Amino acid sequence: MSVKIAPSILAGDLGNLSNEVEQAEKGGADVIHLDVMDGHFAPNITFGPGTVKALRNYSKLPFDAHLMISDPLRYLDQFIDAGCDIISVHAEVCTSNTFTEVMKKLNKSGKKVGIALNPDTNIPDWLMQNLNTLDLLNVMSVQPGFSGQKFMPEVLPKMSKINEMLRDKGLDIIIEADGGVDTSNAYELVKAGARLLVAGNSVFGNMDVGKAIKELKEKAFLAIKEV
Ligand code: DX5
Ligand code: ZN
Repeated sequence: MSVKIAPSILAGDLGNLSNEVEQAEKGGADVIHLDVMDGHFAPNITFGPGTVKALRNYSKLPFDAHLMISDPLRYLDQFIDAGCDIISVHAEVCTSNTFTEVMKKLNKSGKKVGIALNPDTNIPDWLMQNLNTLDLLNVMSVQPGFSGQKFMPEVLPKMSKINEMLRDKGLDIIIEADGGVDTSNAYELVKAGARLLVAGNSVFGNMDVGKAIKELKEKAFLAIKEV
């Protein structure tokens, strides 16, 4: 059992994303988290599949694309082609039918299937019925839009509940914590079930990216020893 760290390059130098990807890998990151926003689902516009594809040349780490977009099906093929390894779409924009389509496309191309939940969203019924098809659940602890927002601690009991439910069902789904993750909450998040910690500001806001990743891992390790 281990906890992985996924720096979000959204919090890095947007004028030099290739450098941020390289720095994260050099600093001991396990995964690169890519926050894609369309200015519609989320109140910000970031980057698209072209940028992701270009960044693919700078790292061998798995790419975790978090699609905060209203119409993920429309762009899914492009993110698959761009070399993403995990692709998460938001539960708020899916129906049972769209999720089935997303899942089929991702399965066919060998990509991991993720669903992201806003802080105030619970697992919808259609997802409960399809949980066995999921690889990852992104339990957001800020509203989609920006890095550097304050962590919402009310998400912790929700995450614990989800974790228990998954354990009871014997499902091996990675819980990803995303939003305001830092050394002050990493321990509690791991205790609540998180195994992939997204960290934007707490990594790239630090002069030493490697040190920031190491400190997060230390907190996670403390928690994992106790579960
Ligand atoms: C928010 C994004 C997060 C966020 C992470 O919309 O999904 O991934 O940018 O950055 P921090 O860790 O700074 O909250
Ligand atoms: Zn994200």
